Amino acid sequence: MLTIHKPVLINEVIEFLSPKKNQNFVDCTIGGGGHAEKILELTGPNGRLLGMDWDPGAIKLSRHRLEKFKKRLVLVNHSYIELKKVVYDERFFHINGILLDLGLSSDQLQASGRGFSFQVNEPLDMRYSPEENEFTAADIINKWPEEKIKKMLKENAEEGHAGRIAKAIIERRKEEEIKTTLELVAVVIKNVPRKRSRIHPATKTFQALRMEVNNELTNVRLLLKDVLEIMEPGCRLGIITFHSLEDRIVKQFFKHESIDCHCPTEIPVCRCEHKAQLKLITKKPVGPSDDEISENFRSRSAKLRVVEKL
Ligand SMILES: C[S@@+](CC[C@H](N)C(=O)[O-])C[C@H]1O[C@@H](n2cnc3c(N)ncnc32)[C@H](O)[C@@H]1O
Repeated sequence: MLTIHKPVLINEVIEFLSPKKNQNFVDCTIGGGGHAEKILELTGPNGRLLGMDWDPGAIKLSRHRLEKFKKRLVLVNHSYIELKKVVYDERFFHINGILLDLGLSSDQLQASGRGFSFQVNEPLDMRYSPEENEFTAADIINKWPEEKIKKMLKENAEEGHAGRIAKAIIERRKEEEIKTTLELVAVVIKNVPRKRSRIHPATKTFQALRMEVNNELTNVRLLLKDVLEIMEPGCRLGIITFHSLEDRIVKQFFKHESIDCHCPTEIPVCRCEHKAQLKLITKKPVGPSDDEISENFRSRSAKLRVVEKL
Protein backbone atom coordinates (compact mmCIF):
# COMPACT_ATOMS: atom_id res chain seq x y z
CA MET A 1 0.00 0.00 0.00
CA LEU A 2 2.60 2.53 -1.13
CA THR A 3 1.90 5.81 -2.86
CA ILE A 4 3.63 6.59 -6.14
CA HIS A 5 2.51 10.24 -6.12
CA LYS A 6 5.28 12.85 -6.00
CA PRO A 7 4.12 15.99 -4.22
CA VAL A 8 4.48 19.03 -6.50
CA LEU A 9 6.06 22.35 -5.47
CA ILE A 10 6.95 20.83 -2.10
CA ASN A 11 9.77 23.29 -1.33
CA GLU A 12 7.62 26.23 -2.37
CA VAL A 13 4.67 25.03 -0.25
CA ILE A 14 6.96 24.76 2.77
CA GLU A 15 8.56 28.15 2.10
CA PHE A 16 5.25 29.99 1.82
CA LEU A 17 3.12 28.13 4.39
CA SER A 18 6.16 28.14 6.67
CA PRO A 19 5.15 25.40 9.14
CA LYS A 20 6.82 25.67 12.55
CA LYS A 21 7.04 23.67 15.77
CA ASN A 22 3.66 22.91 17.37
CA GLN A 23 1.54 24.61 14.69
CA ASN A 24 -1.68 23.13 13.30
CA PHE A 25 -2.34 22.60 9.61
CA VAL A 26 -5.15 21.38 7.39
CA ASP A 27 -4.41 19.48 4.17
CA CYS A 28 -7.74 19.48 2.33
CA THR A 29 -6.52 17.10 -0.41
CA ILE A 30 -4.13 14.79 1.42
CA GLY A 31 -3.78 12.26 -1.46
CA GLY A 32 -0.68 10.15 -0.85
CA GLY A 33 0.35 12.35 2.10
CA GLY A 34 3.50 13.85 0.54
CA HIS A 35 2.92 17.48 1.56
CA ALA A 36 1.37 16.36 4.85
CA GLU A 37 4.44 14.30 5.79
CA LYS A 38 6.76 17.28 5.37
CA ILE A 39 4.41 19.52 7.36
CA LEU A 40 4.15 16.95 10.17
CA GLU A 41 7.96 16.64 10.31
CA LEU A 42 8.24 20.40 10.79
CA THR A 43 5.40 20.86 13.29
CA GLY A 44 6.49 18.36 15.96
CA PRO A 45 6.38 17.61 18.77
CA ASN A 46 2.77 18.74 19.28
CA GLY A 47 1.52 20.30 16.03
CA ARG A 48 -1.52 18.54 14.54
CA LEU A 49 -2.64 17.97 10.99
CA LEU A 50 -6.19 17.48 9.79
CA GLY A 51 -6.10 15.65 6.46
CA MET A 52 -9.12 15.35 4.21
CA ASP A 53 -9.71 13.53 0.95
CA TRP A 54 -12.86 12.66 -0.95
CA ASP A 55 -11.34 9.39 -2.13
CA PRO A 56 -11.36 6.62 0.50
CA GLY A 57 -8.32 5.07 -1.23
CA ALA A 58 -6.28 8.24 -0.61
CA ILE A 59 -7.21 8.18 3.08
CA LYS A 60 -5.92 4.58 3.32
CA LEU A 61 -2.67 5.44 1.52
CA SER A 62 -1.94 8.49 3.64
CA ARG A 63 -2.87 6.68 6.87
CA HIS A 64 -0.29 4.05 5.98
CA ARG A 65 2.41 6.56 5.01
CA LEU A 66 1.83 8.77 8.05
CA GLU A 67 1.53 5.93 10.59
CA LYS A 68 4.38 7.28 12.72
CA PHE A 69 2.56 10.62 13.15
CA LYS A 70 -0.77 9.05 14.06
CA LYS A 71 -1.07 10.80 17.45
CA ARG A 72 -0.90 14.16 15.70
CA LEU A 73 -3.00 13.24 12.69
CA VAL A 74 -6.77 13.38 12.09
CA LEU A 75 -7.93 11.88 8.79
CA VAL A 76 -11.40 12.48 7.40
CA ASN A 77 -12.89 11.00 4.24
CA HIS A 78 -14.98 13.96 3.06
CA SER A 79 -15.02 16.49 0.28
CA TYR A 80 -13.26 19.72 1.20
CA ILE A 81 -16.54 21.53 0.56
CA GLU A 82 -17.40 20.21 4.07
CA LEU A 83 -14.26 21.81 5.52
CA LYS A 84 -16.01 24.21 7.90
CA LYS A 85 -18.25 21.47 9.31
CA VAL A 86 -15.35 19.00 9.65
CA VAL A 87 -13.21 21.57 11.46
CA TYR A 88 -16.03 22.24 13.98
CA ASP A 89 -16.94 18.54 14.37
CA GLU A 90 -13.29 17.63 15.02
CA ARG A 91 -12.80 20.73 17.19
CA PHE A 92 -9.69 21.42 15.11
CA PHE A 93 -8.98 25.08 15.95
CA HIS A 94 -6.03 27.53 15.92
CA ILE A 95 -5.12 26.66 12.36
CA ASN A 96 -1.85 28.16 11.09
CA GLY A 97 -2.07 27.00 7.50
CA ILE A 98 -4.38 25.33 4.98
CA LEU A 99 -3.31 23.58 1.79
CA LEU A 100 -5.26 22.52 -1.27
CA ASP A 101 -3.46 20.60 -4.02
CA LEU A 102 -6.24 20.26 -6.56
CA GLY A 103 -7.02 17.63 -9.14
CA LEU A 104 -6.00 14.01 -9.04
CA SER A 105 -2.95 12.09 -7.85
CA SER A 106 -0.68 9.71 -9.74
CA ASP A 107 -2.10 6.93 -7.53
CA GLN A 108 -5.58 7.59 -8.91
CA LEU A 109 -4.23 7.90 -12.43
CA GLN A 110 -2.34 4.62 -12.37
CA ALA A 111 -4.01 2.28 -9.97
CA SER A 112 -7.55 3.24 -9.06
CA GLY A 113 -9.42 1.04 -11.58
CA ARG A 114 -11.75 4.02 -12.14
CA GLY A 115 -10.73 5.10 -15.62
CA PHE A 116 -8.84 8.33 -14.91
CA SER A 117 -6.10 7.41 -17.38
CA PHE A 118 -6.31 7.18 -21.15
CA GLN A 119 -3.44 4.70 -21.07
CA VAL A 120 -5.09 1.88 -19.14
CA ASN A 121 -8.27 0.08 -20.17
CA GLU A 122 -10.79 0.55 -17.36
CA PRO A 123 -14.49 1.33 -17.00
CA LEU A 124 -15.39 4.99 -17.63
CA ASP A 125 -16.04 5.95 -14.03
CA MET A 126 -13.78 8.84 -12.84
CA ARG A 127 -15.47 9.42 -9.46
CA TYR A 128 -13.21 10.39 -6.58
CA SER A 129 -15.93 9.19 -4.25
CA PRO A 130 -17.91 6.22 -5.59
CA GLU A 131 -19.82 6.19 -2.26
CA GLU A 132 -21.12 9.77 -2.44
CA ASN A 133 -21.33 10.34 -6.17
CA GLU A 134 -23.62 8.27 -8.40
CA PHE A 135 -22.76 10.11 -11.59
CA THR A 136 -20.01 8.59 -13.77
CA ALA A 137 -18.11 9.54 -16.93
CA ALA A 138 -20.01 6.77 -18.77
CA ASP A 139 -23.28 8.58 -17.96
CA ILE A 140 -22.00 11.72 -19.70
CA ILE A 141 -20.60 9.88 -22.70
CA ASN A 142 -23.64 7.64 -23.26
CA LYS A 143 -26.55 9.82 -22.12
CA TRP A 144 -25.79 13.49 -22.66
CA PRO A 145 -26.88 15.27 -25.86
CA GLU A 146 -24.19 16.33 -28.35
CA GLU A 147 -24.38 20.06 -27.54
CA LYS A 148 -23.96 19.45 -23.82
CA ILE A 149 -20.91 17.24 -24.37
CA LYS A 150 -19.40 19.84 -26.70
CA LYS A 151 -19.99 22.63 -24.15
CA MET A 152 -18.49 20.54 -21.34
CA LEU A 153 -15.34 19.81 -23.41
CA LYS A 154 -14.96 23.47 -24.31
CA GLU A 155 -15.70 24.94 -20.91
CA ASN A 156 -13.79 22.48 -18.73
CA ALA A 157 -10.73 21.91 -20.90
CA GLU A 158 -10.79 24.49 -23.69
CA GLU A 159 -10.72 21.53 -26.14
CA GLY A 160 -10.31 23.04 -29.62
CA HIS A 161 -11.92 20.01 -31.29
CA ALA A 162 -14.92 19.82 -28.93
CA GLY A 163 -17.50 19.84 -31.75
CA ARG A 164 -15.85 17.02 -33.71
CA ILE A 165 -15.30 14.87 -30.64
CA ALA A 166 -18.88 15.33 -29.40
CA LYS A 167 -20.29 14.47 -32.83
CA ALA A 168 -18.09 11.36 -33.07
CA ILE A 169 -19.18 10.20 -29.59
CA ILE A 170 -22.85 10.44 -30.62
CA GLU A 171 -22.18 8.52 -33.85
CA ARG A 172 -20.21 5.81 -32.05
CA ARG A 173 -22.78 5.27 -29.32
CA LYS A 174 -25.53 4.74 -31.92
CA GLU A 175 -23.70 1.47 -32.66
CA GLU A 176 -23.06 0.51 -29.03
CA GLU A 177 -22.41 2.05 -25.62
CA ILE A 178 -18.93 3.44 -24.98
CA LYS A 179 -18.02 1.64 -21.79
CA THR A 180 -14.25 1.82 -21.37
CA THR A 181 -11.44 4.33 -21.49
CA LEU A 182 -9.78 2.82 -24.54
CA GLU A 183 -13.06 2.76 -26.48
CA LEU A 184 -13.33 6.50 -25.82
CA VAL A 185 -9.66 7.10 -26.68
CA ALA A 186 -10.20 5.41 -30.06
CA VAL A 187 -13.08 7.81 -30.84
CA VAL A 188 -11.03 10.86 -29.80
CA ILE A 189 -7.88 9.86 -31.68
CA LYS A 190 -9.84 9.47 -34.92
CA ASN A 191 -11.12 13.01 -34.58
CA VAL A 192 -8.21 15.02 -33.21
CA PRO A 193 -5.28 15.69 -35.53
CA ARG A 194 -2.13 14.27 -33.93
CA LYS A 195 0.46 16.98 -33.29
CA ARG A 196 4.09 16.33 -32.55
CA SER A 197 3.72 16.83 -28.84
CA ARG A 198 4.18 15.00 -25.55
CA ILE A 199 0.53 15.68 -24.81
CA HIS A 200 -1.79 12.80 -25.75
CA PRO A 201 -4.77 13.83 -27.95
CA ALA A 202 -7.24 12.51 -25.34
CA THR A 203 -5.72 14.57 -22.47
CA LYS A 204 -8.29 17.37 -22.59
CA THR A 205 -11.28 15.05 -23.06
CA PHE A 206 -10.28 13.05 -19.99
CA GLN A 207 -9.57 16.18 -17.95
CA ALA A 208 -12.94 17.71 -18.89
CA LEU A 209 -14.83 14.52 -17.99
CA ARG A 210 -13.08 14.15 -14.62
CA MET A 211 -13.81 17.77 -13.76
CA GLU A 212 -17.47 17.39 -14.71
CA VAL A 213 -18.01 14.10 -12.85
CA ASN A 214 -16.51 15.54 -9.67
CA ASN A 215 -17.90 19.05 -10.00
CA GLU A 216 -14.39 20.39 -9.57
CA LEU A 217 -14.82 24.06 -10.51
CA THR A 218 -17.94 24.42 -8.37
CA ASN A 219 -16.19 22.71 -5.45
CA VAL A 220 -13.35 25.24 -5.51
CA ARG A 221 -15.88 28.10 -5.44
CA LEU A 222 -17.76 26.48 -2.53
CA LEU A 223 -14.54 26.00 -0.57
CA LEU A 224 -13.53 29.63 -1.09
CA LYS A 225 -16.97 30.81 0.07
CA ASP A 226 -16.43 29.20 3.49
CA VAL A 227 -12.72 29.05 4.12
CA LEU A 228 -12.20 32.57 5.46
CA GLU A 229 -14.52 31.81 8.38
CA ILE A 230 -12.13 29.23 9.80
CA MET A 231 -8.96 31.28 9.26
CA GLU A 232 -7.69 33.33 12.18
CA PRO A 233 -5.41 36.34 11.58
CA GLY A 234 -2.00 35.14 10.40
CA CYS A 235 -3.36 31.84 9.04
CA ARG A 236 -2.08 31.14 5.52
CA LEU A 237 -3.94 29.46 2.68
CA GLY A 238 -2.04 27.89 -0.23
CA ILE A 239 -3.77 26.56 -3.32
CA ILE A 240 -2.08 24.59 -6.09
CA THR A 241 -4.02 24.47 -9.35
CA PHE A 242 -3.27 22.61 -12.58
CA HIS A 243 -5.77 24.28 -14.81
CA SER A 244 -6.24 27.84 -16.02
CA LEU A 245 -9.95 28.04 -15.12
CA GLU A 246 -9.29 26.83 -11.58
CA ASP A 247 -6.39 29.25 -11.25
CA ARG A 248 -8.58 32.12 -12.46
CA ILE A 249 -11.21 31.36 -9.80
CA VAL A 250 -8.53 31.36 -7.07
CA LYS A 251 -6.75 34.45 -8.42
CA GLN A 252 -9.96 36.49 -8.66
CA PHE A 253 -11.11 35.50 -5.18
CA PHE A 254 -7.74 36.31 -3.62
CA LYS A 255 -7.64 39.66 -5.42
CA HIS A 256 -11.21 40.54 -4.44
CA GLU A 257 -10.59 39.74 -0.78
CA SER A 258 -7.29 41.61 -0.63
CA ILE A 259 -8.78 44.98 -1.65
CA ASP A 260 -10.85 47.22 0.61
CA CYS A 261 -13.30 48.94 -1.67
CA HIS A 262 -14.96 47.66 -4.83
CA CYS A 263 -16.96 50.78 -5.74
CA PRO A 264 -16.65 52.03 -9.34
CA THR A 265 -13.85 54.66 -9.62
CA GLU A 266 -16.33 57.44 -10.46
CA ILE A 267 -17.88 57.16 -6.98
CA PRO A 268 -15.79 59.46 -4.74
CA VAL A 269 -16.73 57.93 -1.37
CA CYS A 270 -16.90 54.19 -0.73
CA ARG A 271 -20.45 52.84 -0.49
CA CYS A 272 -19.74 49.11 -0.66
CA GLU A 273 -17.92 49.11 2.71
CA HIS A 274 -15.99 46.03 1.67
CA LYS A 275 -12.95 45.41 3.87
CA ALA A 276 -9.96 43.36 2.76
CA GLN A 277 -9.61 40.12 4.69
CA LEU A 278 -6.49 38.78 3.00
CA LYS A 279 -2.93 39.80 2.23
CA LEU A 280 -1.37 38.41 -0.96
CA ILE A 281 1.79 36.50 -0.05
CA THR A 282 2.55 35.46 -3.63
CA LYS A 283 1.91 38.43 -5.94
CA LYS A 284 2.30 36.12 -8.94
CA PRO A 285 1.63 32.38 -9.10
CA VAL A 286 4.64 30.25 -8.22
CA GLY A 287 5.45 27.51 -10.75
CA PRO A 288 7.82 24.53 -10.79
CA SER A 289 11.54 24.83 -11.53
CA ASP A 290 12.97 23.29 -14.69
CA ASP A 291 14.48 20.56 -12.50
CA GLU A 292 11.10 19.69 -11.03
CA ILE A 293 9.48 19.56 -14.49
CA SER A 294 12.19 17.23 -15.77
CA GLU A 295 11.81 14.97 -12.73
CA ASN A 296 8.02 15.10 -12.65
CA PHE A 297 6.33 16.04 -15.93
CA ARG A 298 2.97 16.24 -14.17
CA SER A 299 4.16 19.34 -12.31
CA ARG A 300 4.48 21.37 -15.53
CA SER A 301 1.14 23.14 -15.18
CA ALA A 302 1.13 23.59 -11.38
CA LYS A 303 0.58 27.08 -9.96
CA LEU A 304 0.73 27.93 -6.29
CA ARG A 305 -0.96 31.03 -4.82
CA VAL A 306 -0.76 31.89 -1.15
CA VAL A 307 -2.62 34.42 1.01
CA GLU A 308 -2.65 35.31 4.70
CA LYS A 309 -5.68 36.26 6.78
CA LEU A 310 -5.49 39.83 8.08
C1 LIG B 1 -2.99 16.13 -6.38
S1 LIG B 1 -3.69 15.04 -5.24
C2 LIG B 1 -2.98 15.52 -3.70
C3 LIG B 1 -1.64 14.95 -3.46
C4 LIG B 1 -1.05 15.26 -2.12
N1 LIG B 1 -0.84 16.67 -1.92
C5 LIG B 1 0.25 14.51 -1.90
O1 LIG B 1 1.27 15.16 -1.63
O2 LIG B 1 0.25 13.29 -2.00
C6 LIG B 1 -5.31 15.65 -5.11
C7 LIG B 1 -6.21 14.91 -4.17
O3 LIG B 1 -7.39 15.70 -4.01
C8 LIG B 1 -8.45 14.83 -3.81
N2 LIG B 1 -9.70 15.57 -4.07
C9 LIG B 1 -10.21 15.97 -5.25
N3 LIG B 1 -11.37 16.62 -5.05
C10 LIG B 1 -11.57 16.63 -3.71
C11 LIG B 1 -12.58 17.17 -2.88
N4 LIG B 1 -13.65 17.82 -3.39
N5 LIG B 1 -12.45 17.04 -1.55
C12 LIG B 1 -11.38 16.39 -1.01
N6 LIG B 1 -10.41 15.83 -1.76
C13 LIG B 1 -10.50 15.97 -3.09
C14 LIG B 1 -8.19 13.71 -4.77
O4 LIG B 1 -8.91 12.54 -4.37
C15 LIG B 1 -6.67 13.56 -4.65
O5 LIG B 1 -6.34 12.56 -3.71
